[in-house]
Formats: sequence, structure tokens, C-alpha cells
Amino acid sequence: MSFRIQPTPPARPNRCQLFGPGSRPAIFEKMAASAADVINLDLEDSVAPDDKPQARRNVIEAIGDIDWGNKYLSVRINGLDTPYWYRDVVELLENASERLDQIMIPKVGNAADVYAVDALASAVEAAAGRKKRISFEVIIESAAGIAHVEEIAAASPRLQAMSLGAADFAASMGMQTTGIGGTQENYYMLHEGRKYWGDPWHWAQAAIVAACRTHGLLPVDGPFGDFSDDDGFIAQARRSATLGMVGKWAIHPRQVALANQVFTPSPEQVAEAREILAAMEKARAEGAGAAVYKGRLVDIASIRQAEVIVRQAEMISGG
Ligand code: COA
Ligand code: MG
Repeated sequence: MSFRIQPTPPARPNRCQLFGPGSRPAIFEKMAASAADVINLDLEDSVAPDDKPQARRNVIEAIGDIDWGNKYLSVRINGLDTPYWYRDVVELLENASERLDQIMIPKVGNAADVYAVDALASAVEAAAGRKKRISFEVIIESAAGIAHVEEIAAASPRLQAMSLGAADFAASMGMQTTGIGGTQENYYMLHEGRKYWGDPWHWAQAAIVAACRTHGLLPVDGPFGDFSDDDGFIAQARRSATLGMVGKWAIHPRQVALANQVFTPSPEQVAEAREILAAMEKARAEGAGAAVYKGRLVDIASIRQAEVIVRQAEMISGG
């Protein structure tokens, strides 16, 4: 029980976050022309150490020069365990145009990590006279990150979104896999000689969703590495959507349409949600708290469930 009202997350679509290395400016225009809601220009692990300074310059130039339309524009900085991150923040906030919306902080392990970036960003923003306050998103991709997920979600008013980074997470946890998300061959139950696969990412995703919903952030599923496996991507994305996540990364352009498809409520889902709302409205008018819809119980909680779907659809269509 709680008398606190659950905060609503930022009202913007976040169905797909398309990544591209900051050291590969030839793809920036293609990223801008994509159907992704969020663009993540990367300064971290897709950029080799020697290329970091040039990648920063590329990204800063592209933020101002390219027409990013109405996309939410984010740059992934380097982790706090590297010698690069402070220059990423300082150079971005001193030199990038105000078109930049967000900074993504990888490998966050506790609330103090977010506090440190917040303090630095606040100082540089004030010194540079920036008008727009930059927002943050974080990646949970370590044992410490998942252990402290709730304090991280509460760490800064700048925070808008939180992603699960499956590859680094698996490495940090010592998981016996080199796969990036998706089905893991050895994670099965055996029943009467038959294998039934479970989802080893499930608990971390659910923990992230709970922390995000408690603090009004957008929970997002991270990368799916095998970009030739569309069915595998869709299966993973559907599980994430079912758990309450609002979107998924694309590490290759072909994944954008797949993510948009899964995280946009279908016309059938929206129609059913509206019918449930209508059935409940009718029940309420008749003085009843519950009703029967297609042979199953619907009650006040069903209104909240149906409203999630209708609100999501309206937000995506700009309603
Ligand atoms: N965004 C937009 N366009 C992209 C793209 C991206 N991330 N990656 C590739 N493209 C373009 C290519 O330029 C190519 O365009 P063309 O048809 O005009 O020539 C087309 O999409 C097909 O690309 P393809 O040849 O299949 O891929 P690739 O070998 O060029 O690149 C990757 C594959 C995985 C290296 C590349 O997609 C990539 O760098 N992804 C992002 C990695 C990243 O940011 N990781 C960090 C987060 S985990
Ligand atoms: Mg990572």
C-alpha cells in the first residue's frame, strides 16, 4: 500500500533507440532519416580508444549540422571508470548545439555515479550559459547496477530512461554466454526428457521496470546482437513489452521497424482496450464495479490496464 501517486514517465515515444558509432559519421544522415524515436550517437564501446577525440568532434558537429527532425537526440558518453568521460561531458556541453537532448551514462553502478555526472553537467551548463537542461538516461549493465537499481532510478531529476545492457551485464555477472540478449541454449528446464527454455534476462528486466515505474522513468530493453535473426529480436522485444518496457535498442537499421512494430500497440489491442473501457463505463453507470467482457472478468484494475494501451497509442500518434 502506498499513498504516493506513481509518477508518469516523460510523454514521448521511445519505441526504438538507434545506435551508431561516433567514429562513423557517414551513417549519421542515415540514422537521422530512420524511423527510430531516439538516436544514440556513441562515444563509448563502439569507438576505439584512439578515435575518441575525433568521435567527439564528429558528434558535436553533427548535432548542429544534421536535421534530426523530431527525434530525441542522445549521446552515449564513456563510463566513469575511464579517462574519457569528463571530457565527453565538458566538450559536449560547451560546444554542442542546444539540439542535444540527452546524455546516456553507461555502466552506472550506484546513485553517486549519476550524481557525479549531474554535478559536472550542471557546472558546465551554467558556465556555458546553456538554456536547455540536458536530460540523462542510464544503462544497467553490471552486478552493481542491478543491485542498486532503485537508488539509481531515484538519483537525479534529469533522469528519463533506463536500459538493460545485456552483453556487459552478462560479463559482469559471470554468466556463461557470449550472446547479446535472447535465448540462451543452456538455460532450460528438463521435464520428461524435453527441454523448456526460460528467459535469463527476465528478472533483471522486471527489476528495471519496477525501479523505473516507481520513479517515473522509461524502461527500455537494450541490444539484441544477432541482427540477422529477426524472429529472435521480435520474440525478445515481445517479452520486454509484456513486462512493461516501452522500447528496445537497434544496433543495425533493420531492427528499427521490428522494434516499432512490437512497441506500437496494434489496432486490435487498442480496439480491445477501448471496448474494455466502454464495458466498464456501462457497468459503472449501472452501479457495478465489475463486468464481463468476452467471458472474462474486468474491473477497476482493467481500466488502468486498458488506459496504459490507449495512452501509449495516443502518444505515439501524437494525440
Ligand atoms: N545506423 C544507420 N545506418 C546504418 C547503421 C546504423 N547504425 N549501420 C549500418 N548502416 C547502414 C550502412 O551504411 C548501409 O547503408 P547503405 O545501404 O547505404 O550502404 C546499410 O545500413 C546496411 O549496412 P550493413 O552493411 O548491413 O552493416 P555494416 O557492416 O555497415 O555495419 C554494424 C554493421 C553492426 C557495424 C553497424 O550497424 C553498427 O555500427 N551498428 C551500431 C553499433 C553500435 O553503435 N554499438 C553500440 C551500442 S551496442
Ligand atoms: Mg555496454
